[in-house]
Amino acid sequence: MRDAYIVTSVRTPGCKRAKGAFSQTRPEDLLAFILKTAVEKTPNLKTEDIEDIMVGCAFPEAEQGLNIGRIAGQMAGFPDSVSGATVNRFCAAGLEAIAQASMRVMTGWSDIVIGGGVESMSFVPMGGNVPRPHPEYTRQHADLYASMGITAENVAKRYKISREDQDAFAALSQQKAAAAQQENRFTEIVPTPAFRFVAQADGTYAKQVAMQEIDDGVRAGTTKEKLAQLRPVFALNGSVTAGNASQTTDGAAATIIMSEAKVKALGVKPLAKLKYYTTTGCKADEMGVGPKYAIPRVLEMAGLDVKDIGLFEINEAFASQALYCVRELGIDLDKVNINGGAIALGHPLGCTGAKLCATLLANMQRLGVKYGVESMCVGGGMGAAAVFELCD
Ligand SMILES: CC(C)(COP(=O)(O)OP(=O)(O)OC[C@H]1O[C@@H](n2cnc3c(N)ncnc32)[C@H](O)[C@@H]1OP(=O)(O)O)[C@@H](O)C(=O)NCCC(=O)NCCS
Repeated sequence: MRDAYIVTSVRTPGCKRAKGAFSQTRPEDLLAFILKTAVEKTPNLKTEDIEDIMVGCAFPEAEQGLNIGRIAGQMAGFPDSVSGATVNRFCAAGLEAIAQASMRVMTGWSDIVIGGGVESMSFVPMGGNVPRPHPEYTRQHADLYASMGITAENVAKRYKISREDQDAFAALSQQKAAAAQQENRFTEIVPTPAFRFVAQADGTYAKQVAMQEIDDGVRAGTTKEKLAQLRPVFALNGSVTAGNASQTTDGAAATIIMSEAKVKALGVKPLAKLKYYTTTGCKADEMGVGPKYAIPRVLEMAGLDVKDIGLFEINEAFASQALYCVRELGIDLDKVNINGGAIALGHPLGCTGAKLCATLLANMQRLGVKYGVESMCVGGGMGAAAVFELCD
C-alpha cells in the first residue's frame, strides 16, 4: 500500500448558525472558496492536477444538495476534468471524505485528491428541511431518529456524567478557545468572504462582502458558574444546555492528499500522513459513546497505545459524551482539544471531520507531535477515528 501524504489542510472560520457571519453566505461559496485556497496554498499545484474532490456534508439537500462536491469545484474554477462527490456519514462525513480520498491515493487509483467538508446549518437545518422517517420502522425503532440532545442526556444519565462536570468541561473548552484566539494559534483558518444582503433606500438589496477571520461563537469569560445558570434544553430535569452542547455552525474545510511521487514531482513539503481510519457502530440512543469504541480500534490497527498519542481532536458534540469517552479511555485531558472544541468553536456537521483534521495537523506541526488522533461520535449510533503521523 502506498502512503497518503497530506500537503495542505485549511478551513474557513466556523460561524454561528443564523446569528453568525456566514448566515447569508451560501454553502457553495464557502466550499468553492476553501477548495480554491487549498490549491493556491500548495506550491506548484494547479487545479487541473486534482483528480477528484470528495466532500462531506451531513444534510446534502437544497443549497448544499445536487452534489455540492461537483458544483463547488466548478464554481471554484476547476476544469471540467476534475470530478466531485458528496460523502455522508453525518458528523464524520468530512473525515470520511478525507479517508476515502486517502484510500484512493493509497491503492494507486489516484495521485492527487481533495477531501473536505461543508455544512451551512443556517441554510439547511439539522434533520434536513423535510425529515421523513420511515412510518412503520420508526414505531419500533424511534431511537434511530432520536434528537441528538436526547442521546446526550442518555449518556449523562446512564454513565453518571454530572451537570457540574459537563459545565466544567464546557467552560474549559471556551477558555482554551479564547486563549488560542488571543495567541493566534488557529493558523489553519483562512480569512473567508462573508456575504450579507443589506436593504437599500429604493427597496432593493445590495450584496455586501466582508472578510471573516475568526470563529465567531467563542465566548471568552465563560465560567462553570455562569453555565450552571442555564436551563436544560432537551429534557425536563435534564443536564444538557446551550452552554454544554456544541454550537450549530456554518463552515467549510479542505485537505489536499497526494502520492509520494507527486510530492516529489511538485517539490512540496508534506505535513502528515493519514495512517489508519476506522468506523464502528453503537446503540443509536447513546450515539455519543462512539469514540470510546472507535479510538481503541484504530489504535490497535496502528499498533499504538493511548499514551503514544500526543494530541487528540475529539469532537465535542456534547460535553457529556466527550467527557465520558475521554474518561473511559484514560486519555490525559491536557492532550484533548487544546484549542477548544465544538462547544466553543462550533460543529458544522459534515464539515467537522475536515475542520478537525486541519486543526489537529496545525497543532501537531506547531508542537512537533508525531501521532495525532481525530475522532467523533456519529448520529444513528457510530464512532469514527483516524490516526495521523507527522512528516519529518
Ligand atoms: C443547544 C442548542 C439547541 C442551543 O441553540 P441556541 O439557542 O441557538 O444556542 P446559543 O448558542 O444561541 O445560546 C442560547 C443562549 O444560551 C446562553 N449561552 C450559551 N452559551 C453560553 C455560554 N458559554 N455562557 C453563557 N451563556 C451562554 C446565552 O444566553 C445564549 O443566548 P445569547 O446568544 O443571546 O446570549 C443548539 O446549540 C444545539 O442544538 N446544539 C446541539 C447540536 C447538535 O445536536 N449537533 C449534532 C451533534 S451529534
